[in-house]
Amino acid sequence: MTDPGDIDAAWLPSAAFRAVGSRRVLVRAGEGPQAGTVHSELAEACARFGGRVVPDGADADLVLAPADVDGLGDEGFTFERRGGTTTVTASGQRGLLHGLFHVVRLGEDAFTGERAREVHRPALATRMLDHWDNVAVHPVMGQVERGYAGGSLFWADGRARGDLDRVRAYGRLLAACGINAVAINNVNVHATEAHLLTDRIGEVAAIADVLRPYGIRTHLSVTFAAPVVLGGLPTADPLDEAVRTWWAEATRRVYEAIGDFGGYVVKADSEGQPGPFAYGRSHADGANLLAAALEPYGGTVHWRAFVYDHRQDWRDRSTDRARAAYDHFTPLDGRFAPNAVLQVKHGPMDFQVREPVSPLIGAMPRTRLAVEVQATQEYTGQQRHVCWLGPMWSEALRFRPDGSVSAGRLADGLVAVSNAGDDPFWTGHPLAQANLYTFGRLAWDPAADPRAVLDEWIALTHPGAPERLVDGLHAVLDGSWSTYEKYTAPLGVGFMVQPGHHYGPSVDGYEYSPWGTYHFADRDGVGVDRSAATGTGYAAQYAKPWSEVYESPETCPDELLLFFHHVSYGHVLHSGKTVIQHIYDTHFEGVEEAEEARRVWAGLADLVEPARHARVAERFEEQVRCAREWRDQVNSYFLRKSGVPDGRGRTVY
Ligand code: GCU
Repeated sequence: MTDPGDIDAAWLPSAAFRAVGSRRVLVRAGEGPQAGTVHSELAEACARFGGRVVPDGADADLVLAPADVDGLGDEGFTFERRGGTTTVTASGQRGLLHGLFHVVRLGEDAFTGERAREVHRPALATRMLDHWDNVAVHPVMGQVERGYAGGSLFWADGRARGDLDRVRAYGRLLAACGINAVAINNVNVHATEAHLLTDRIGEVAAIADVLRPYGIRTHLSVTFAAPVVLGGLPTADPLDEAVRTWWAEATRRVYEAIGDFGGYVVKADSEGQPGPFAYGRSHADGANLLAAALEPYGGTVHWRAFVYDHRQDWRDRSTDRARAAYDHFTPLDGRFAPNAVLQVKHGPMDFQVREPVSPLIGAMPRTRLAVEVQATQEYTGQQRHVCWLGPMWSEALRFRPDGSVSAGRLADGLVAVSNAGDDPFWTGHPLAQANLYTFGRLAWDPAADPRAVLDEWIALTHPGAPERLVDGLHAVLDGSWSTYEKYTAPLGVGFMVQPGHHYGPSVDGYEYSPWGTYHFADRDGVGVDRSAATGTGYAAQYAKPWSEVYESPETCPDELLLFFHHVSYGHVLHSGKTVIQHIYDTHFEGVEEAEEARRVWAGLADLVEPARHARVAERFEEQVRCAREWRDQVNSYFLRKSGVPDGRGRTVY
């Protein structure tokens, strides 16, 4: 069992360093912020576990040293074990830091047997967390928009925290799973937060100083209207000379304060945020304006593709929100600057429990792309429900637009909206830590088996965990995404959540709203016809084979059927069940699975620290309550709409 004082340490309890810390370690990391971290981590581990940091030339069990290896890049490293010595080499200090955490992950295995040299390097250059944190508490969205883990790690009382110890600990956790970039404020940039770019850049610099030793670059969300709201210019037109000069000058000052600043994140012309459309300019014009300002310093602009009409008339059946990103952005392929990255949500709608992969991904070969996922569980239980998203992200990352198995990579970067806050367990639900860890590891290697990543997380978080605990955690987490899907909106149709806060069921909550998220259930059937033949044409945004697969209800995968098609309740799925019976069955099963997970967790009480166990147990009570609410509302709704009773005669209200 982990030392109770270590609860906060998430996947880096001190016991995770036992193997490293009990060795003779020789380290030649050189000078620099990340080298300093390598030194101090090793010194601390050795002091704790009886190992020794030995001088050059002495015998050692572990050697970390610089080396020139072709193609390793700044962050890659090699690992090998020969003749009783484990060696990590890298061309830079960041690589050595990643190599050190690799050894920590391996534990005793890093010091056992012989291992031929392995080369490790990240598949994706940018592995980033976006924090939707506000500096000033927002009247509706609070301190952290869609945050379910308490307040902000970075901001409190209207300014950057004076005590950044927890940010330091956060940086360390992130480094240990391979994350290398963090945007520290909300993409919805309100009045106070706009000033971080200019007169409040010192606060950003203080945070950047703390993250730097962990190889993490700091990024900032900025408002496109900055030249107007901060600079007093009459316009923010991206082609206006004065505007360009303003951004160049503002950016110069940013780099004066933070030499390795990562760049800007921009949500423009989206849900009320200002953007280039107001000036009749394109999003390439907008992104390139900021890219030009950042270019001299090696910075990047992450330009979000989440652009759609959020004031749609629900009566208008020709507008389909799912189409929007593709329709807006594909005509601009090839027009974005090399240091502009289009940041695309993994699905076309908004982080639902089930969506197809966005057709924009793969459709812009001449544009740098980052895929955005949501670790914060806005639509997947808000960290009151256990929902491990590893399998969902892995599925999205393995998707290939041309239907091939694994040709090429999907993107240059992976971004997650962070699920961490100032909660003592970091993520509200302690098991949601697994999402943060899994995100980092999948960003490093999108081909990794998520279950193996979960094994790593379990082994680090619970050093020396007995088999019963390992099995129990797998039993609770492995299928939790599928369980959540079962008791919520069926067959890919999405939403059915309470408007505004998005927690709990409300089947028609968004049905007659302007947000473009409908299910169109009536007495005969349910689902959105997005076919090219009779629907919105969304299916045709995909290349073959997907455009054909999705076009017909005969070939469309069951789990996405209602995303792509409006079908009758009697429609027979590939599974052999009718749609209505599938709805009933999955909703009963989902609740049973949640109850079973709660039971498994209760049986682990003797193996988990009491505080952590109690927090999860308490969340399971709420999950089961809420899952029953989902089951009964969804089943009753569809019984009343369809008039078709449950084939198994269970209680539906
Ligand atoms: C969702 C979420 C918003 C957020 C938006 C975004 O719509 O509910 O809170 O601002 O996504 O990704 O920008």
